[in-house]
Amino acid sequence: MVIARVLLPAGRDRLAERFELREGGLDATRADVLAIAPGASALVADPSVTVDAELLDACGPALRIVANFAVGYDNVDLEACRERGVVVTNTPDVLTEATAELALALTLAAARRMSDAERDLRAGRWRGWDPGAYLGIEIRGATVGVVGMGRIGRRYAGLARGLGAEIAYAGPHAKPEAASELGGRRLEFEELLQAADVISLHAPATPQTRGLIGAPELELIGPRGVLVNTSRGPLVDSEALAAALRSGALGAAGLDVYESEPEISPRLLGAPRCVLLPHVGSATITSRDGMANAVADNVIAVLEGREPPSRVA
Ligand code: DGY
Repeated sequence: MVIARVLLPAGRDRLAERFELREGGLDATRADVLAIAPGASALVADPSVTVDAELLDACGPALRIVANFAVGYDNVDLEACRERGVVVTNTPDVLTEATAELALALTLAAARRMSDAERDLRAGRWRGWDPGAYLGIEIRGATVGVVGMGRIGRRYAGLARGLGAEIAYAGPHAKPEAASELGGRRLEFEELLQAADVISLHAPATPQTRGLIGAPELELIGPRGVLVNTSRGPLVDSEALAAALRSGALGAAGLDVYESEPEISPRLLGAPRCVLLPHVGSATITSRDGMANAVADNVIAVLEGREPPSRVA
């Protein structure tokens, strides 16, 4: 079987006990992955590996499963997998807490201008206590708007609620439990952007969510509003975001994901009031070990002829 890049030992060692492994390594290029693919019975991918018809065909007819080392699977062409009878799995639940906590951390960091403040201090620009500098907003009493009330969105809302925020949400499903557990109000998308002090994105990347947040939406969030994205980069037009931060049309942003990772728009890199992290939402030991174990559980189940625990196609 083939691990396109790397799998942490919690899952890798269990697979190595049972199967012969070929591994691309952290720096594997597309050409490297294509070169080790032929004859694979299982392919372990991650969000940076595009699993399309070309890669599936390079693996060949023995391929039975694509096990994604992530909960999101927008990097996998599900239709191409279905056409070839290849099962696709992901790693839900084990990363919910880590990702929700990171979204909350980004919310607080962006709301309190931590990135600009730290940058100034490190650059020797701090001239002492200044009553008017780096003024942000408090989460207690703020309206936190969640776009996509799935597992991670709901946990994030619970954490924000714990800090005293009012919860509102938008999404294609009613999610009555969000209203009963969190006192959340379901709003239309544009209404949510206008009503909330913080907007946190927790929706998958699909053709429908691509460019969900562009210039008009940023204007609705407004000059005091905070945008947080820990879902997928393509949901946000990063050029429009950089322009809104520079002009003051948007209050602040906290991002963990980007349109073409690991490339980042230079305009965004230079934008003020913006906290930028390198896709570390699920980066806790507990979460990443859980994800690696989930990958192994899925691969072993399929190669032993059983239904995998987390099948998405
Ligand atoms: C996921 O699981 O989809 C994350 O983005 C990886 O950290």
